[in-house]
Amino acid sequence: MNDNSLVTPGERQKRIRDIFVDHRNHQQAIQALNHFYMPVEGGIHSRGSVCALIGPSRTGKSFAANDIVAAHEPRVGQDGIKRPVLLVDCPIEGGPRGILDSIADALELTVSSRMTNANLINVILRELRRAEVEFVIFDEAQELFPEKNKRILAFARGLLRKMLNLNRFNIACIGLPETYSIIAEDPQLLGRGGLEHKHLSPYDWNDEHDRKHFRAMCHKFDLEMPFEKSGFSATDFAYRLFQASGGCIGHLKNYLIDAGNRAIKDGSNQVELRHFADAFDARRRPGEIFNPFRVSQG
Ligand SMILES: Nc1ncnc2c1ncn2[C@@H]1O[C@H](COP(=O)(O)OP(=O)(O)O)[C@@H](O)[C@H]1O
Ligand SMILES: [Mg+2]
Repeated sequence: MNDNSLVTPGERQKRIRDIFVDHRNHQQAIQALNHFYMPVEGGIHSRGSVCALIGPSRTGKSFAANDIVAAHEPRVGQDGIKRPVLLVDCPIEGGPRGILDSIADALELTVSSRMTNANLINVILRELRRAEVEFVIFDEAQELFPEKNKRILAFARGLLRKMLNLNRFNIACIGLPETYSIIAEDPQLLGRGGLEHKHLSPYDWNDEHDRKHFRAMCHKFDLEMPFEKSGFSATDFAYRLFQASGGCIGHLKNYLIDAGNRAIKDGSNQVELRHFADAFDARRRPGEIFNPFRVSQG
């Protein structure tokens, strides 16, 4: 993408922000979610089980979930909108009512604040059936299963069981690694399908395959950046990007955005090491001296 003269700085910034790369972890996340939803392509969707997609923050879990939702958009049916895939973003606060409201939001239900929780649960269960929901994804599911808040924990477990009892859809919980064991501790949930799960990990430089995939991901970003190629996937450059990002696509993206902004600003044809070095300095913790983009490697 070298037609830089044709676009404004803002358009180039947007291009960086909107870059999508099809890297291995993304493919694995998509594959897992698709399998939880519909194990045989063109077949029937699964139902009645809970499954999990877990991994540290910024590894691309939500990004993958949004992809699945986009591939199964709501459609208009005879008695209203049908929603094959429902994505619920779990609230960080608000107790049981907050959880119920976020499900109602995803279903685009208008709910009076005076409605009791028990009634709201019934309204939600009815709407899940009417909207012919085939797959429910709870993102940030660690908020449903807070280890220390027994009240929320018990409520969320009960709610999930009620939803699964409709026997219409599977539920995928997306969350942090600890979420898996908390769901697994509930024999009633575990009993429903055995808790099929996929663990996403950041790329590990010490693993030969991971290293290869990380470099391939860097290369794809390099191709998509609105600059002349910078050589991100060369061993030396990729190792620096790895050290800065910890192998996490979200952190890598932050550096690409900031270094890209700096390169646009000073009119460079390429994003250079110095742009990344400045982006790293701007984020360095107090007292930290190391900057992977300033050390010489060799
Ligand atoms: N396949 C991808 N291509 C480009 N950017 C991505 C991709 N996956 C994730 N990102 C970026 O990484 C950041 C973190 O991803 P996200 O899905 O929010 O992680 P998680 O939900 O695991 O915390 C997002 O801001 C997104 O822009
Ligand atoms: Mg997320």
